[in-house]
Amino acid sequence: MPKILQQTGGDVVQVILADHRWFEEALRELRDVEADRAAVLADLATVLIAHAEAEESKVYPALNKRDAIDDDEVEHSEHEHAEGNEALLALMEVEDTASEEFSEKTHELSEALTHHLDEEERDVLNPAKTDVGEDVRAKLGEVFAAERARLIENGCGSIESVRKLVEAAKQKN
Ligand SMILES: [Fe+2]
Ligand SMILES: [Fe+2]
Repeated sequence: MPKILQQTGGDVVQVILADHRWFEEALRELRDVEADRAAVLADLATVLIAHAEAEESKVYPALNKRDAIDDDEVEHSEHEHAEGNEALLALMEVEDTASEEFSEKTHELSEALTHHLDEEERDVLNPAKTDVGEDVRAKLGEVFAAERARLIENGCGSIESVRKLVEAAKQKN
């Protein structure tokens, strides 16, 4: 089990950034035909779903309540998570990890995820740094890590679980 699966609190911005850097590393490995793509994808699905769900239930509401981010920002970020989940599911549904299709779906996930990381770091994490106190960020880091761990424990990255999230998001729109 890669170390990234266990995050233990700290400043919420730092905890989130550590996941983001690991997502980028996982994407790089998915591009590599010599990597154990199935294993990397299983870990990526787990951490990505836990990360995004914990952001939505714990981090965004807390930042929104303190006026660091507005309702539109929350909605936009949740929409990008939904797009990422769709791209993730499409990749998980490819059976042959050595195929051209796997490579193409990796590209699509990479585009969606990289775009979201960029926006979130500029439009969500920057205000979290400037508009929220250190004590709040520390407490939020703990809450985020605990929720992320709980989701991982519950198998949030299984294909069934990802499919459920994608279908629930479609119903909402
Ligand atoms: Fe994030
Ligand atoms: Fe996010």
